[in-house]
Amino acid sequence: MPKDFKRPFSTENPYKLVFVCLGNICRSPTAEGIFIHKVKEAGLENYFYIDSAGTSAYHIGESANSKSQATANKHGIHLPSKARCFEYADLEEFDLILAMDSENLSNIKQLDRKNRFEHKIKMMRAFDPTPDTGEVPDPYYGGLQGFENVFQVLERSCDALLEELQPHIKQ
Ligand code: 4NP
Repeated sequence: MPKDFKRPFSTENPYKLVFVCLGNICRSPTAEGIFIHKVKEAGLENYFYIDSAGTSAYHIGESANSKSQATANKHGIHLPSKARCFEYADLEEFDLILAMDSENLSNIKQLDRKNRFEHKIKMMRAFDPTPDTGEVPDPYYGGLQGFENVFQVLERSCDALLEELQPHIKQ
C-alpha cells in the first residue's frame, strides 16, 4: 500500500505538521498561527505538534514580519514563530510538510534525495477549496492587501486541512 500522510494520532502520539516558506517570516508563520488557533478552538491542542520553517537562512531568529503580525492580530490570531531553516531532520520528524509555493516545494524535495518522504510533502493550497494558481503568493515586497490575501488563503486551507485530519484521531 502506498504511504499516506494521514495516520491515526492521539495525545500520546500527536500529529506533527510543519509549514514551510522561503523566509519563515510571512506565509509559514501565518499558517502556523492560524492552525494553532483552529486546533485550540476545536479543543485539540494536545493532539497536534505545529511548527514552521523557511528554506532560506535570511531571517533566522526573527519574529514574524510586522505586516503579517498586524494582519493576523486583526483577525484575533497571534504569531509565535521565530524563524528557522528547514533541514533534513524535519523530513524524518514531521508527518506533513506543507510548502507555500512551488519553489519551496522544490527546495524541500531536493533534501529528499532518495524520495523517502514524498508522501508527506504537499502544497498548502492542495487543501484550498479554491486553489487558484495552487501557490500562496509571496507578500514580502507588497502592501497590506497582499498580506490580507495570504491570510484568507491560509485560513481557508487550514480549515480544510483540519477537517481532513480530524477523522484520524484515535479515540
Ligand atoms: P516568506 O516571505 O517566505 O513568506 O517568509 C519572504 C520573506 C523574506 C524574503 C522573501 C520572502 N526575502 O527575500 O528576504
